[in-house]
Amino acid sequence: MTVRINPSILSADFANMAHDLARIDNADFAHVDVMDNHFVPNLTFGPQMVERIKATSPIPLDVHLMIADQDRWAPGYAELGAESVTLHVEATADPVAVASAIHAIGSRVGIALKPGTPFSEIEEIAEHFDQILVMTVEPGFGGQKFLADQMQKVREVAAFRAKTGTELWIQVDGGVDALTIELAAEAGADTFVAGSAVYGTDNPSIAIENLRRIAREHSHH
Ligand code: DX5
Ligand code: ZN
Repeated sequence: MTVRINPSILSADFANMAHDLARIDNADFAHVDVMDNHFVPNLTFGPQMVERIKATSPIPLDVHLMIADQDRWAPGYAELGAESVTLHVEATADPVAVASAIHAIGSRVGIALKPGTPFSEIEEIAEHFDQILVMTVEPGFGGQKFLADQMQKVREVAAFRAKTGTELWIQVDGGVDALTIELAAEAGADTFVAGSAVYGTDNPSIAIENLRRIAREHSHH
């Protein structure tokens, strides 16, 4: 099975973004955490900065929206060129309508679940999405501890994918490192976000290849 490693630029140097994007050119997507200090208690960047990141990045963008009123703001990120836009079900009134607006622009769409949100909450609409993001920390900050109890949810999503025969990508985000990636891959995840485990090392591109090798070894699909 194909595995994808998406480094989170939340752990990059915000004053040297072009340099830090160039250091992850062997990754699959650059994971861009958009936070508004409202849906989560942290603030990062908005459309103007993401547009510059898009212009500078050697690889496609995987935008993870952690903002209020995603119905209003999400399609704008597809319009500025993000190849994938992930919504939080907890912050979107009509996720299916937003997914169809983003698909019409030509980008992939994901839907994210906070640790306390069960998969059953989105099972009926899951077919409208290209990716399900199972958060393995409470969204808001890098460097938190991986919540292994979320692996049951990953297994549920993997069972749904097997049953429906879809091409759904299963993403995990938060606390992913060379050890915890084994658990996530074994549970059925194929798309791995890692911030501190990539940018916290001297050589991000070696860290990416190391994570990719471990994820491949532990995925059995
Ligand atoms: C947290 C963000 C993550 C974060 C992960 O809200 O969604 O993408 O950057 O950072 P690490 O890998 O350090 O847990
Ligand atoms: Zn994220």
